[in-house]
Amino acid sequence: MSSPRPPKRIGILTAGGDCQGLNAALRAVTLAAMEQWDAQLIGFENGFIGLEAGQCRPLHRPDVVSIINLGGSILGTGRGAQAVTPRDTEESLRRCVANYRAESLDLLVCLGGDGTQRFAQQLSSAGLRLLTLPKTIDNDIPGTDTCFGFDSAIEVGVDALDRLHTTTSSHHRVMLVEVMGRHAGWLAAAVGLAGGADIVLLPEIPYDLETVAAAVKARGTRGRHYAMVVVAEGAQPANARPEGLPLHGAAAELLETLPALTGLQTRLTTLGYLMRGGAPSATDRILASELGVRASQLMAKPALGLMLAWRQGAVVPVPLTEIAGPARQVPPDHPLLETLRATGVCLGV
Ligand code: F6P
Repeated sequence: MSSPRPPKRIGILTAGGDCQGLNAALRAVTLAAMEQWDAQLIGFENGFIGLEAGQCRPLHRPDVVSIINLGGSILGTGRGAQAVTPRDTEESLRRCVANYRAESLDLLVCLGGDGTQRFAQQLSSAGLRLLTLPKTIDNDIPGTDTCFGFDSAIEVGVDALDRLHTTTSSHHRVMLVEVMGRHAGWLAAAVGLAGGADIVLLPEIPYDLETVAAAVKARGTRGRHYAMVVVAEGAQPANARPEGLPLHGAAAELLETLPALTGLQTRLTTLGYLMRGGAPSATDRILASELGVRASQLMAKPALGLMLAWRQGAVVPVPLTEIAGPARQVPPDHPLLETLRATGVCLGV
């Protein structure tokens, strides 16, 4: 198969929820592609919304050179286009393909989470040359061991736990700390472990309320009249109604039910969007940069439609067709969970 000509016009966008490391990745892709291919980068605004609407601008070296430490995305981001009904999706795809061609792009680089990977796969099937980079604080994209954003969000969570620990122990309370993660508990497990939580509740393990209360009371018998409980926003009680709780209601439910069983004052801190905000950690800056540079190296390959995954310490291109599927959840025997169990942390069962 003959190799396409070196890429000269490269579209780039950041889609889905923002996270730390998007700008570091934008910077790496742009600088490496300028260096390697002498390419012109075209940035689309607000993810696929901008691609669909044809809203874009050239990116020059001064636009990206000093953004490695910035949170958010200089291009803006959004959850549009990856749509609502199949008919909307068809129409979005048609417009995105038309604008890709109108801009005479040689390829498009998409930085995003699971929804972005799925929509990118559809664009790839429609004939666009595509590379994607995995980002999300949830760490739940199939096919990659980790995503940029995750490490920074862990740091935010651990800092919060350290602060909450002192006030919680002083007041002899139970502190519920809700972290993001609707379908996967990677953040809850990592923050819970590194932050020294006593109880960690994940969407993967429906919890038994009596067991959670017993864990709090058992601490009391050892002279510890307080408890730190990390709750993923999507955690569910084992006896949840068939429709389940709202996907971000886990800790609010516990605030209602737990105090009567423990007799301790209980407070709730929801970390929410704080976890996605602010500067990326050094680890995320490095990961985003390595993924971005590797993307540039692959740009002249004939067959694209690839996500740059991180597997066992190396960047690996993975076909987007392999990324489809449900969120990557924490396996029951994952070292994070084994370590929590082995150090006496209650997982709600
Ligand atoms: O996927 C990242 C994430 O921050 C999740 O942890 C959270 O549940 C969701 O996005 C929030 O979405 P939105 O930004 O659309 O409110």
